[in-house]
Amino acid sequence: MNPVIPAPRAAVLAGLGGWVPERVVTNDELAARLDTSDGWIRTRTGIGSRRVADPADATSDLAVRAGAAALDHSGAGQADTVLLATVTPDHPCPATAPDVADRLGLSGAAAFDIGAVCAGFVYALATATGLIAAGAADRVLVIGADTYSRIVGPEDRGNLAIFGDGAGAVVLRAGDPDEPGALAAFDLGSDGSGRELITVPAGGSRRPVTGPGADVHFAMRGREVYRHAVTRLTESARASLDAAGLLPSEVDRFVPHQANLRILRSVADDLGVPADRLVTNLHEIGNTGAASVPLALADAAAHGELTAGETVLLNAFGGGLAWGSCLLRWPKLPSSPRPYPRRSTT
Ligand code: UT7
Repeated sequence: MNPVIPAPRAAVLAGLGGWVPERVVTNDELAARLDTSDGWIRTRTGIGSRRVADPADATSDLAVRAGAAALDHSGAGQADTVLLATVTPDHPCPATAPDVADRLGLSGAAAFDIGAVCAGFVYALATATGLIAAGAADRVLVIGADTYSRIVGPEDRGNLAIFGDGAGAVVLRAGDPDEPGALAAFDLGSDGSGRELITVPAGGSRRPVTGPGADVHFAMRGREVYRHAVTRLTESARASLDAAGLLPSEVDRFVPHQANLRILRSVADDLGVPADRLVTNLHEIGNTGAASVPLALADAAAHGELTAGETVLLNAFGGGLAWGSCLLRWPKLPSSPRPYPRRSTT
């Protein structure tokens, strides 16, 4: 008997959505209580404001809203698997994804969290692609959600300036590798020797939280991370393009993790992707961690800035260190709701 070899199944983009908290914290508001200024933050990062979650909301609440928007946009309103990329889960245990699935009416779905910090969403896309290829899933809701406002210290002017809260999501369905929307040419990598560069020191098994004074706040060695970010984002994007046999000049829209505008411009420049193809929204909502790539996609799609047939490059980097990239041809999708009203263009 000849074995039956099934046709390869790709993960195809079928819907997207995003959600950010209403509360806007401007640079001036930060400068009113910390030793910083609008000028410093804009010049060094490109960020003008960020969103901060309501005290009553946890990461799951943001994830449920973004997930609902993506499910709705996908038409079918359902998924058999829910992946949540986050570094700010509701609790250390259990994972947050099953709770999110349950509240989205998807109880029974496979659901788990993915911890790859700011690269988490691209790692989750790759995981969903693998599950679909293996026949273990047919329709996957992939969410990136983070509430950095809960882990950054109240006096940390550097990280308070950069990070914001938010959630973005996509629905991936099983489809054909040749059809528009099929995710392809993944590149993933990590370098654990950089483990100390981005960290929450206490609260895990190495340094449990044992009482007052435990260092539970997020810490980042910004300047070193900056250098790694530029190198790794550029190398990873190049690896994806090589795998797809594409030149940087053939990228129509470049959607990197929204780390810092200077990093993004430098990566686009090093790659040779023209600056006007860079999709960025960090002037509005800052760096939203695992949510930043899907939120940038949802924002751009809702404003008609992603057109069917365009080659789109996704690219992310963060703590671990971990990074990843992939490519897709933008599919024809129904118009999608705006994840937030735009306040400004710069
Ligand atoms: O999302 C995960 C990946 N994350 C990233 O990719 C972030 C990468 N790093 C960065 O984006 C940048 O390193 C930062 C935005 C974090 C910092 O910008 P920088 O240009 O690298 O500044 P720096 O850390 O070298 O600091 C320059 C100066 C320092 O003062 P001195 O030592 O020169 O006197 C800082 O203390 O700026 C000071 N500084 C600030 N000043 C005003 C740091 N934060 C602030 C602030 N306001 N918010």
